[in-house]
Amino acid sequence: MSMNYPPSVRLVEVGPRDGLQNEPQPLPAAVKIELVQRLQAAGLREIEVTSYVSPKWVPQMADNHQVMSGIERRDGVRYSVLTPNLKGFEAALADQPDEIVVFGAASEAFSQKNINCSIAESMDRFAPVVQAALDAGIAVRGAMSCTVGCPYEGEIAPERVEMLAGLMKAIGVQRVDVADTIGVGTPLKVQRAIEATLRHYDIDHISGHFHDTYGQALSNTLAALQLGVWNFQSSVAGLGGCPYAKGATGNVATEDLVYLLHGMGIETGIDLDALVDAGAFISAALGRPTGSRVARALLARRG
Ligand code: HMG
Ligand code: MG
Repeated sequence: MSMNYPPSVRLVEVGPRDGLQNEPQPLPAAVKIELVQRLQAAGLREIEVTSYVSPKWVPQMADNHQVMSGIERRDGVRYSVLTPNLKGFEAALADQPDEIVVFGAASEAFSQKNINCSIAESMDRFAPVVQAALDAGIAVRGAMSCTVGCPYEGEIAPERVEMLAGLMKAIGVQRVDVADTIGVGTPLKVQRAIEATLRHYDIDHISGHFHDTYGQALSNTLAALQLGVWNFQSSVAGLGGCPYAKGATGNVATEDLVYLLHGMGIETGIDLDALVDAGAFISAALGRPTGSRVARALLARRG
C-alpha cells in the first residue's frame, strides 16, 4: 500500500518552553538563550521560546523577558510564546513575538488545573488576547490539550475536541495544535482527534503535539502524516512534560522525529548532527543523558 506523505514537514521546536518548564532545577537564562541559538543554527524555523504565565505557577518561565530579549534573532525564524491572558500578552508584546499561543483543553478538569478556569471561561480570556495580537500583526496559535486523554478525566471523546476546535475558530485562532498532553494516545485515536479538528481547521492549520510518555509518539506522528498533517511539535533531547499533568514525560524528541522524516525522504531543513549537538548541550546543562534514542545512537557512533 502506498501512502501520499507530505514532501516536507515543518517542525515547531518546543523544548525551550514545554521542555524546560518542567525541569525541577532552574537553568540560567544564558543557557536557554544558547539553546535557542543552537536550535536555529541547526535549521529550526519555528521555536516556542517561553511563556508569560504566573511565576508562582511556573517559576521556570519567570525569565521570559530575559530570554526573549537575549536571543539574536534570525530572519525567517518564527519565535512563539505562550500567553494565557491579557496580562501575559501585554508582557509578551514588549518582546515582540512573531506568534502567540493561547492554550485550552478538551477536558474541563485539566482546564481547571492548568489555567484555573473552565473551558468557557478560558475562551472569554483568550478572545481579547487573540484580537489584540491580530491587531498588532502577531500570528495566533491555539494549543488544545488532552485531545485523546486527560490525567483527571481519562479518555476524551473526539466530540470534545471538535467542540474545542470550534471555540478556538470562533475567537479567531489561526491554527491549532492537537496535543496528546500525557502521551496516552495510539494511532487510531490520534487520527480521530485530528479528524474532529478538521471539522473546523484545514490540514495546513493543524499541527501534531505528541508527548511520548507511553512511547507512542512516533507511531502517532506517522498516523498524522497519513492524514496529511505536515506541522509537528517536538522537543530537543525529548525534554519536558507539563507541570499540571503528573507523570507526563517530554514531547517526542526532535532528533527522533527528524530521523524518521529524513528516513522517509521527507524534508525538514534540519541538520541532524547540529541538532544532536544542541541536545547534547542542554542535556549536559541539566546533568543527565539525552532522552532521544536517535541522539544516543549517533553519539555512541561518534565515540
Ligand atoms: P489565576 O490565579 O487564575 O489568575 O491564574 P489571576 O488573574 O487570578 O491572577 C492571580 C495572580 O497571578 C496575580 O498575582 C496576577 O497578577 C498573576 P498576585 O496579585 O497574586 O501577585 N498573573 C500573572 N502573572 C504573570 N503573568 C501572567 C499572569 N496572569 C496572572 N500572565 C494563570 C491564571 C493562567 C495565569 C495561571 O493559572 C497560570 O499561570 N498557569 C500556568 C499554566 C501553564 O503555564 N501551564 C503549562 C503550559 S500549557 C502546556 O504545557 C500544554 C501544552 O504543551 C500542550 C499540551 O501538551 O497539552 C501547550
Ligand atoms: Mg505539551
